[in-house]
Amino acid sequence: MKIIAGNWKMNGNSEILDDMISAIDELHTENRVILCVSYTMLQGGNATVMIGAQNISKYDSGAHTGEISGAMVAATGANATLVGHSECRESLGDKNSDVALRAQKAIENDLLPIICVGETAAERDIGLTHKIIENGVRESVPENASDGTFIIAYEPRWAIGAGITPTYEQIKEAHKIIRETLQDMGFDEIPILYGASVTSDNSGEIMSLENVDGVLVGGASLKKDDFIPIIKSAK
Ligand code: PGA
Repeated sequence: MKIIAGNWKMNGNSEILDDMISAIDELHTENRVILCVSYTMLQGGNATVMIGAQNISKYDSGAHTGEISGAMVAATGANATLVGHSECRESLGDKNSDVALRAQKAIENDLLPIICVGETAAERDIGLTHKIIENGVRESVPENASDGTFIIAYEPRWAIGAGITPTYEQIKEAHKIIRETLQDMGFDEIPILYGASVTSDNSGEIMSLENVDGVLVGGASLKKDDFIPIIKSAK
């Protein structure tokens, strides 16, 4: 079973979401799909399609204008949330420690956090890729996490939305670092997703790589014609 997560970013509406869920249901896929959508579209999912948010607050309540708590997201029926997405790390200035607090709130509220880690182009250029990925995992996984309560997504930040993908060797290398780090931390049952410029042209091959348990798809998750073939490509 593979996990195919879609990150709709600030796109879509409830009608488009309902239509997408119906199309996915018709596939009768054995894979798990998670659609991470804007807060106004959050709802309960079904046995195949889980609905998730794109971020949650590190606080429970209080004077945090514009934020949403894990409990509020859970109250909609949604079951998951992204945390530490590169766009949030950039716009909100999140460090790994902030991401860990968000992930902690997700777990406290029975939401499945998809914890995103990955290096920038500048970090890769000066040879920091291994360190950034390893530290990203060590420092962004919260203390209340146990096996099976979270997902890691490797997102090379230089490839997101850029239409470029790393080589398969680079993906394998990054996922191996993540797998070994997780094992060293005592986690054996954590899915690792690859995310950045995934399309139906490369999804099948990427999902067949060692230590790749699924994909996190941005742009190509918005339209059925693009997303359904990606789900179908999961073996
Ligand atoms: P992309 O985005 O697939 O459009 O590169 C990936 C993501 O931001 O999760």
